[in-house]
This record gives sequence, C-alpha cells and structure tokens, in this order.
Amino acid sequence: MEFRHLGRSGLMVSEISYGNWITHGSQVEEDAARECVRAALDEGITTFDTADVYAGTKAEEVLGRALKGVRRESLEIFTKVYWPTGAGPNDRGLSRKHITESVHGSLRRLQTDYVDLYQAHRFDNETPLEETLKTFDDLVRQGKVLYVGVSEWNADQIAQALKIADEMGFDRLVSNQPQYSMLWRVIEAEVVPLSEKEGLSQIVWSPIAQGVLTGKYLPGQPPPAGSRATDPAGGNFISRMLNDDLLTRVQNLKPIAADLGLSMAQLAVAWVLQNPNVASAIIGATKPEQVRDNVKASGVKLDAEVLKKIDDVLGPVVERDPAKTVSPEKRP
Ligand SMILES: NC(=O)c1ccc[n+]([C@@H]2O[C@H](COP(=O)([O-])OP(=O)(O)OC[C@H]3O[C@@H](n4cnc5c(N)ncnc54)[C@H](OP(=O)(O)O)[C@@H]3O)[C@@H](O)[C@H]2O)c1
Repeated sequence: MEFRHLGRSGLMVSEISYGNWITHGSQVEEDAARECVRAALDEGITTFDTADVYAGTKAEEVLGRALKGVRRESLEIFTKVYWPTGAGPNDRGLSRKHITESVHGSLRRLQTDYVDLYQAHRFDNETPLEETLKTFDDLVRQGKVLYVGVSEWNADQIAQALKIADEMGFDRLVSNQPQYSMLWRVIEAEVVPLSEKEGLSQIVWSPIAQGVLTGKYLPGQPPPAGSRATDPAGGNFISRMLNDDLLTRVQNLKPIAADLGLSMAQLAVAWVLQNPNVASAIIGATKPEQVRDNVKASGVKLDAEVLKKIDDVLGPVVERDPAKTVSPEKRP
C-alpha cells in the first residue's frame, strides 16, 4: 500500500481507503462487515471513512466494533456531519448545535476519543459559514477532531470557506470528498485546480461507480443477484448508470484491463489515483475478496495511451459538467 499526504497537511493516508456507506449496518451482516475491515487492515489500508447518517448511525457503530483493539495510532478515521440523524429541525445541517451533538455521537459510536478528519457532508445554505467553521475550529482546539474537510462542495463554496478561515485565523480545510471515477469527472474543471492552488486533496468516493466499472452489470440483462443494484437502499443510487449504452461501453473496457493484467475494478481504482490531487480512493465492499482485488490498484501507473483509449471507449457517457456538484438548497 502506498501513502499520500492529505492536502498540504502533515497527515498521511493510505491511497486506498475503506468506506462503509450502504454496507455496514444495512446491506451486509456484521460478520461480513468485520471480515471486510479485517481484509482492509491485512492489505495495508489504514484509512477508514464513514458518516453519522450511514444506516441511520448504525454504520459508525459497526465500524467502531470492527476496529476495536486495533492500535489507534495506526488508523486514520474519517466521519461526516450534515444529513439528518433524527427527526427534529436541529438534527441536520451545519449549525453549532448539530455539529457539536453529532461529533459527540460519532465519537461514542466509533469508540474513539478523536477523529482524524471531520467533514461537512454537504454545504448548508441555512447556516452562516462562519458559524460552521468556528465550530470546526473549536473541535480542533478541543482535540476531538484533528483535521477538517468538506464533501461535495463546489469551487466557489470551498473558496469562501478558505477566505473566512484566513481572515479569522481558523483551521483551514485540508480536503474535499467528491464523487470521482472514469464516468464522473465533474471536479476536474474547477474544484481540482482550486484545490491544487490552495493545498486541499480530494478523497474520492465511488471510484468503481458503485460496482458498475467492474463490468458485472451486463447490458440488456437483470443485475446479478446480491449486487448493490438489487439492494433496497443501494438500488436507487446506482440506477442512473444502468442503461445499455453506458453498460456496453463499460464492457468495451475489458480488453484494456486484460492487456494490462488488471481486473476491471483495479483499472477503475488505478484510474482515479493517476490524478495527483487525489489523496485516496475510498472503496466499498460487501465481501473481503472485493477488498483484496481492489487494493492491488495501489501503485499502478497508467500511461497516456491507456488513458486515451479509455476516453475513446467511454466517449459521451462521461459526465464533466462542474454544475453537477450540488448541495440541497434547503436542509433535507
Ligand atoms: N461523501 C459522500 O457524499 C459519499 C457518497 C457515497 C459514498 N461515499 C464514501 O465512499 C465509499 C465508497 O463508495 P462506494 O461503496 O459507492 O464505492 P465503490 O468502490 O465504487 O463501490 C463499492 C461496491 O461495488 C461492488 N464491488 C466492489 N468491488 C468489487 C469487485 N472487485 N467485484 C465486484 N463488485 C465489487 C460492491 O457492491 P456489491 O457487492 O453490492 O455489488 C461494493 O460495495 C463509501 O463507503 C463512503 O465512505 C461518500
């Protein structure tokens, strides 16, 4: 496993990290969750990503139990705040009240005294940015959070936060967590150039497009049994990509992966890691074999000719519009 700096900070993260959205506390049983975490640790992953909202807070509990007994200094634990964790108007968003209550809940469920990275899961249009950033800064001073970042913020929102942090002397954001894959490249035009200039990294989610880039979803055929597309929680998120044109183009990537001696999942993870602004690709898994397959992408170099072939095969199904990075206008 290779390691990269998180933004301009001194923190190193494993370039492949393990995340538990959709899976822990929901799609997979606790035993499978524990085995996936164990496989991740055995393969050299040290960085784990979760969120208060995953599986209605159960995912953090599952991860906390799975990591129990592992030397804390050998792990980087990331979590997030914004999406609702309860029914009340203050159980969501980035107010001082919700952030403070949410981080305490996360620390309790994860069974740790601090998280390495605390991320604003979306931009909150209903809280002054100063309030959110001051609260984050207070958590850093209190030692409950070591670094702060955001997720799915656009370039303008990140720039606003950096300006306030610099004016007020608050801790600066070190990372953004966007969706990024061969199929979804919306960060490349604006977020990545700003981040490079300002010292933020991307920690990218769904690098294999939730399983689509493994090539296991075949055009014109029902999804394989037990896959995310058949899961009540996961099915909604993946359905956008399950159309015959996109799935046919993905099948046409198979010879490229085969020529390189890579699995399709490895090619997809390696592709995001070619971007030097990416500090880590967060992989999800329902089975330990998937973790063991996907981690082999660490250290793989893809040359310009391979990248061009991939672009030619995928053609118009690649999404590049920076306006596709959106946070809800009103809190959910
Ligand atoms: N910040 C955000 O808003 C946000 C949003 C989403 C995700 N995330 C983070 O990113 C993490 C990863 O997201 P993701 O789970 O969508 O990532 P992903 O790695 O693109 O997809 C993972 C899923 O693909 C399938 N898969 C993985 N490896 C495979 C293999 N070798 N062969 C066949 N199938 C394979 C598995 O699902 P099946 O076995 O069920 O098919 C697995 O659960 C999340 O856990 C979370 O930490 C963040």
